[in-house]
Amino acid sequence: MSQGSPPKTDSGSDAATAPPRLEMRHIIKNFGGVQALRDVSIVAPGGEVHSICGENGAGKSTLMKVLAGAIVDYDGEILLNGQTVRFSGPRDAEDAGIRIIYQELNLVPQLTVADNIFLGRERTRGGPLGWLDERGMEARTRELFDRLGTPIPPRARVGDLRIGDQQMVEIAKALAYDAAIVIMDEPTSALSESEVTRLFRVIHDLRKSGTTVLYISHKMNEVFTLSDRVTVLRDGQFVASAPRAEITPDQVVRWMVGREIAALNYQPHPIQQKAVLEVENLSLQAPPGSGRPNLQDITFTARAGEVVGVAGLLGAGRTELLEAIYGATPTTPRGTIRLEGQPVRFHHPDEAIRAGVAMVTEDRKALGLFSQMTVAENITLRRLPELTFGPVPLVNPRAERTAVDWSIKELSIKTAGGGAPITSLSGGNQQKCIIARWLLVEPKLLLLDEPTRGIDIGAKSEIYALIRRLAGQGRAILMTSSELPELLAVADRIIVLCEGRITAEIPRAEATEESIMHAATRFLDKVGAAS
Ligand SMILES: Nc1ncnc2c1ncn2[C@@H]1O[C@H](COP(=O)(O)OP(=O)(O)OP(=O)(O)O)[C@@H](O)[C@H]1O
Ligand SMILES: [Mg+2]
Repeated sequence: MSQGSPPKTDSGSDAATAPPRLEMRHIIKNFGGVQALRDVSIVAPGGEVHSICGENGAGKSTLMKVLAGAIVDYDGEILLNGQTVRFSGPRDAEDAGIRIIYQELNLVPQLTVADNIFLGRERTRGGPLGWLDERGMEARTRELFDRLGTPIPPRARVGDLRIGDQQMVEIAKALAYDAAIVIMDEPTSALSESEVTRLFRVIHDLRKSGTTVLYISHKMNEVFTLSDRVTVLRDGQFVASAPRAEITPDQVVRWMVGREIAALNYQPHPIQQKAVLEVENLSLQAPPGSGRPNLQDITFTARAGEVVGVAGLLGAGRTELLEAIYGATPTTPRGTIRLEGQPVRFHHPDEAIRAGVAMVTEDRKALGLFSQMTVAENITLRRLPELTFGPVPLVNPRAERTAVDWSIKELSIKTAGGGAPITSLSGGNQQKCIIARWLLVEPKLLLLDEPTRGIDIGAKSEIYALIRRLAGQGRAILMTSSELPELLAVADRIIVLCEGRITAEIPRAEATEESIMHAATRFLDKVGAAS
């Protein structure tokens, strides 16, 4: 694609009078043979929201890690207010007023919420050698969550929080200090709509008070709601940068992918009479104090060939429903679950897997990825028994390679190869590896919890097509998503949860964003009261 001459990266005429808040010049970063950034330059004045867009693996997170001092061995120059800086580590960047919300959350699960927020910067009373000011830190933590409109208890252990709440803690941590530059790398991937609304309000306030916000998201509506300026990277290179008012989402997507993206088209295929999954009067009591929703009297069926969408607000019980079927809940659900007509009760996911059920979890870091392993090992993890020579538990390298090559190609996983460490992949590409793992199991029933979280627009439509194809082969698929257009594009039928109960079951012909939202808020009288 040609985009004419790329717009200049300087930010306008006043650049001559006062130096911009931030300038990154000719940044180059290689990871071994992978050129993550090949000469990227950006400029951002104060008081602006500047979005950085690009496909999975484009180099967005790497650029932000360079700025935040998390990557120190790069070529190029960073200037703050016209002064060259070179950070020796994250702490150094923080001292210079740069704060980052990491895409892959960077919290200590064993510590409390307040301890995480003040980690390394604990407040003391009675001078620097005084005792820890626990009360002060808790009060400040509460204040931060008030600002974000989220009542997360400061003393809760971070590891016990749901992924969406952990994301809120990561956000609060970045806001705990006044910063000149706040970097947000996919901050909303696990947030509910009302949480997103409140975060956006905080971003507006930051902007008004002169903070520069660098914002990364795959969601075009967020980018276009928030940004003053949009910069696009592709394959580690600067593609274009323009004021939001001068561009359209379509233009940005074209810059990102360098081609046109096919619209989401629902592909119908026959649904068989055979019920793969029947759930009857399923109830689940969450452990007391866990803050997780209960499930009440859930009844529905998923047939062979059918994609059933599970909609609902955050906390409605979507994940719990999938986990209850998969045997992954801390308490045992009541009610009946039948798989191809046989009553089943899984006490552990291993039992579910043996019976032909697979689940892609939303919280990939905690439950999905093995960060010490390679890409190939992460993909074939669940298939190892079949990839052996007879009774000898040796991995058959050829079969493994075929499976891995198929996955990399089918899901367009951007990696140096199967032997690369999984941690060397960008966030979205790691997610694709987990999806690949479960596809190789060839399950009868596939449970997908937010499968496209963090995945770019181009790869999303590939994954939708793949989901439809898998269903077309006679599987039943249960899928949650907080993005309604996604459910509308993929699901044959949508069940809607509100506070752990099914409030509607909508055939695709009748499903609209309005009908789903209406059912999703059935029992809530305070929805919309966020404003
Ligand atoms: N620690 C690392 N070691 C090796 N390669 C890496 C490492 N971190 C990133 N890369 C590679 O650098 C490239 C850019 O990755 P980066 O994480 O910046 O992408 P991204 O634009 O943030 O993508 P996403 O939208 O998926 O988060 C990718 O090809 C990735 O595989
Ligand atoms: Mg990233």
